[in-house]
Amino acid sequence: MNKPKVLVTRPLFPAARAILDQHFEAEYWTQPERIPRAELLRRVAEKDALICLLTEKVDEELLSIAHKLRIAATVSVGYDNIDVPACTRHKVVATHTPGVLDDTTADFAWTLLMAIARRLVEGDAWTRSGTWPGWDLDQLLGGDVWGKTLGIVGFGRIGRGVARRSQGFRMRVLYHDQVRVSADVERELSAEYLSFEKLLGESDFVTLHVPLLPETRHLISTAVFEKMKRTAYLVNTSRGPVVDEAALVDALERKLIAGAALDVYEHEPSVHPALVSRKDVILAPHIASASIETRTKMAVMAAMNAVALFEGKRPPNALNPEALDL
Ligand SMILES: NC(=O)c1ccc[n+]([C@@H]2O[C@H](COP(=O)([O-])OP(=O)(O)OC[C@H]3O[C@@H](n4cnc5c(N)ncnc54)[C@H](O)[C@@H]3O)[C@@H](O)[C@H]2O)c1
Repeated sequence: MNKPKVLVTRPLFPAARAILDQHFEAEYWTQPERIPRAELLRRVAEKDALICLLTEKVDEELLSIAHKLRIAATVSVGYDNIDVPACTRHKVVATHTPGVLDDTTADFAWTLLMAIARRLVEGDAWTRSGTWPGWDLDQLLGGDVWGKTLGIVGFGRIGRGVARRSQGFRMRVLYHDQVRVSADVERELSAEYLSFEKLLGESDFVTLHVPLLPETRHLISTAVFEKMKRTAYLVNTSRGPVVDEAALVDALERKLIAGAALDVYEHEPSVHPALVSRKDVILAPHIASASIETRTKMAVMAAMNAVALFEGKRPPNALNPEALDL
């Protein structure tokens, strides 16, 4: 029997390739640059499955070309690259990779938070430059992390992971989400639910963990910066467009906040040019989930979703299981 055909827009990792090669006739995009859109459209046209990354858009245009496609599996938990309602209309199941990257991403949000507060990146540059004159009492004074107030916006899997990490730092933990978690979870994480406005006014660190949705695009705007403490730091490991980057630059210039540590950008891979020269920002290249263990688990998870579908099962991480019943 002919195996189904899958287009995979990266070679992934050996563990995921082993699964895909066993179950599919797999075609991998192996060039170092991301697959150009025209190439993606050309190659996906006759495929039964697509394993893609957050850099590939699965939209009406792609779906109407890929008339045999039955699944689009993104190797990411965020799925703003996939038009899920369009997938449903085309009877294509969309899947993502929730759960396996929570701790790794929360670790990295914590890394950014610590690094911006304690000016690690500035210090590293100074030490390397050869101009550091040696220890002094008032060099690179940062803000404390321990004992401060942490404001978590988006209290899902990753947001809660960040709360868990704060416990050893004896912080007050505030959160805001569309959905309030149970009293048991609030107690376990010592987290207080607050309105967005109140959280902004009380937090020393505001860390973002919402998905990118029409409602969360530019959630962080000038009005938000004006409500934050002048000593507060913003940490963003969610999606770039959640923060209005021009408003962030303006807020830093006006000293509305003390600094920002970013993993994601509004127009990746571009970064607002005014951010690049600033010492009060840390700029990471979208690596919050980038550990070898986690990225491997994500790739395997995407592969297993595709395998499940062609074995006649419901893909475990389907975003639109109703597409199967149409
Ligand atoms: N930088 C990275 O490499 C990286 C890695 C992993 C995830 N992410 C991003 O982090 C996001 C969160 O991941 P997760 O697994 O924790 O998702 P999740 O679905 O478990 O949590 C998201 C939370 O945000 C809340 N939310 C949604 N809209 C909101 C709004 N308007 N206001 C307040 N809260 C709102 C939801 O109720 C939910 O509790 C992903 O969607 C992804 O974009 C980025």
